[in-house]
Amino acid sequence: MISSPLRIAQITDLHLFAQSEQCLLGMPTLRSLNALVEQLQQLYPQPDLLLLTGDLSQDGTIESYERLQMLLSPLKIPIYWLPGNHDCVEAMERSLTRFYLDKAFERGGWRFLLLNSQDPGCVHGRLSIESLNWLDRQLSQNLNIPTVVSLHHPPFAVNSTWLDTSILQNSTELLEVLDQHTQAKLVVFGHIHQEFQQQRGSVTFLGTPSTYIQFARESDDFALGQEPPGFRLIQLYSDGTWESQIKRVEFRYALDLAATGY
Ligand SMILES: [Fe+2]
Repeated sequence: MISSPLRIAQITDLHLFAQSEQCLLGMPTLRSLNALVEQLQQLYPQPDLLLLTGDLSQDGTIESYERLQMLLSPLKIPIYWLPGNHDCVEAMERSLTRFYLDKAFERGGWRFLLLNSQDPGCVHGRLSIESLNWLDRQLSQNLNIPTVVSLHHPPFAVNSTWLDTSILQNSTELLEVLDQHTQAKLVVFGHIHQEFQQQRGSVTFLGTPSTYIQFARESDDFALGQEPPGFRLIQLYSDGTWESQIKRVEFRYALDLAATGY
């Protein structure tokens, strides 16, 4: 009999501001997150762990991270995070004191490795040589533990011309490291504000919708998708197998596209 899995909730691309009602593309980013948290609280069983995969803040302010921490702490679930291109790592480390700072950890017989793919001053992602070496060392030290690798930027194009300019710029180097090891089962990311799945050898790459607005799929130019906010649930089994589903949030808001600012 397979024992009950470790349940992960991945939430990504929250784009919060210092001001609670501040809008991005005419929508207060905090509102859909509030609805998402209410939905998370109603899940049974509750997730065992929350994984935040970047762009938690739009303005990188201490206040935006403090608000996020206040909003998520009542869930009483261990929370781990990594930064996206909009985030300020220094402000995160100072503010997110009730979240875990660890970027390599083990839970439920699985190992988690969280990468920082920020390329300072850029929207696109890049993994530093230090990050790639760190990943290689971590994977070399724990050969038999199934592993989830996570970062903000997708290592693959998503067939959306404008968005594909801002994916991970040195994906080949990441894939070369992953190819040296067999225990990485999943690579989980955000940034693209849409659901995505791609298989490469024994590794599945999963992209997850934003808690805020979605981007239209396979669009040449910037365009919004009609899907509601979402998050991802992942069940990790002790035998190294997994399942995953996207959950959508009951939330609708009339976007004011004249109020740009993305
Ligand atoms: Fe991003």
